[in-house]
Amino acid sequence: MTAVVIRGGLVVGESSSSRADVLIDNGRLVEVATSVSAPSGAYNIDAQGCWVGPGFVDLHAHLREPGSEAAETVESGARAGALGGYSAIVAMPNTEPPLDTPALVAYVLERGARTPLDVAVAGAITQGRRGELLAPMAEMAALGVRIFTDDGTGVQDPAVMRRALTYAKPLGVRLAQHCEDERLAAGGSMNEGALSSRLGLVGRPALAEELMVLRDLELVRLTGGPMHFLHLSTARSVGLVAAARREGLPVSCEVAPHHFTLDEGAVATFDPIFKVHPPLRTPKDVAALRAALRSGEVDAVATDHAPHAPEQKDLPFDEAPPGMLGLEHAAALTYEALGAREASPELLFSVMSRGPARVAQLRAGDYRVRHGAHGGPMRAGDDANVVVFDPEARWTASRHSLASRASNTPYDGRAMLGRVRALVVRGELVVIVGTLA
Ligand code: NCD
Repeated sequence: MTAVVIRGGLVVGESSSSRADVLIDNGRLVEVATSVSAPSGAYNIDAQGCWVGPGFVDLHAHLREPGSEAAETVESGARAGALGGYSAIVAMPNTEPPLDTPALVAYVLERGARTPLDVAVAGAITQGRRGELLAPMAEMAALGVRIFTDDGTGVQDPAVMRRALTYAKPLGVRLAQHCEDERLAAGGSMNEGALSSRLGLVGRPALAEELMVLRDLELVRLTGGPMHFLHLSTARSVGLVAAARREGLPVSCEVAPHHFTLDEGAVATFDPIFKVHPPLRTPKDVAALRAALRSGEVDAVATDHAPHAPEQKDLPFDEAPPGMLGLEHAAALTYEALGAREASPELLFSVMSRGPARVAQLRAGDYRVRHGAHGGPMRAGDDANVVVFDPEARWTASRHSLASRASNTPYDGRAMLGRVRALVVRGELVVIVGTLA
């Protein structure tokens, strides 16, 4: 294995950062110091002006395998993730069939092991994601599954969710809920409000999300089972989870880049690229999500990367499937939301790496996936899962230059600031100068 030296970047620790060189050898950080002498033959990465921190971790990637390989595969999704700076991604279980048995989990883990990243798997909470009978969670946990979710839909029946939380606690796993009450959201394709009335589209009310957040917070209080709230999209939702955390409940939450960069106004184009569940909300919600991110109330930015093949996505708005791509643009969008040149590097790495690594139990001392620990402190001895992020790089997002098999990004043509320059996974260079090695 060739040694790698990352020179002259700002090395981002948990609470402070300093300019240093990073020497990587044999899959580990060997030295972090103002000037390191490299072994001969080492690969040098110039990181002047860049932020050097633990590789990003995505809690929420729909990799579509098995079942919808025309839209994405584990392999293409991992390439998209690598370009986005991720050293680990969590594959969601709403595949066809859903990942609700140890055999299906093992299949995706095995596909993931052929990629350069760590691909962790989230298992389904219920058999077939039908929300009725619990899936064999213990058997899947034995394979290393640490997150269970029926994402795509929320578990509607409170008795089922109560039982799942009761099981989750002793297993040491976390449930992740897609918060939308199906009856309140029924038939809706955008946020419910004055705009949906004007456009003549049926709405999905904010209350459909908030009611389920409220219900599940009470179920967590009752059972003590830990819960992660997926893709929160309203001001009230993030406020509720933040308040519950202050009370000491075992809860965490994520927000997705599209919910803090786009609002429901985009739907006036009737372009199905802007259709997503939960839907894009009001400008006020967008501002509240950005404020929550900046105040540290959000554990993770998670992409909800949801590839769809063009022939499936290009339908009239109310018929198109929900979801948009995320892996390749999340870092720049998060940097922008944190204030771009005003952004705190520690906060960027908290929401993009350390927070999600904690939620997914991918840190040192947790269950170890192939490439070791993620979200580390950037000290000598850490497993070398490292990203180099250039906060000054200007570029333009394009749907035509994505590693993903799908192209349903809402950011085509958007000017971006901040880009992944390099990614090292367990000491191996995966991305160099912004392209796959
Ligand atoms: C997700 C998908 O396509 O798998 N789509 C989405 O709009 N977020 C599933 C989901 O959470 O609805």
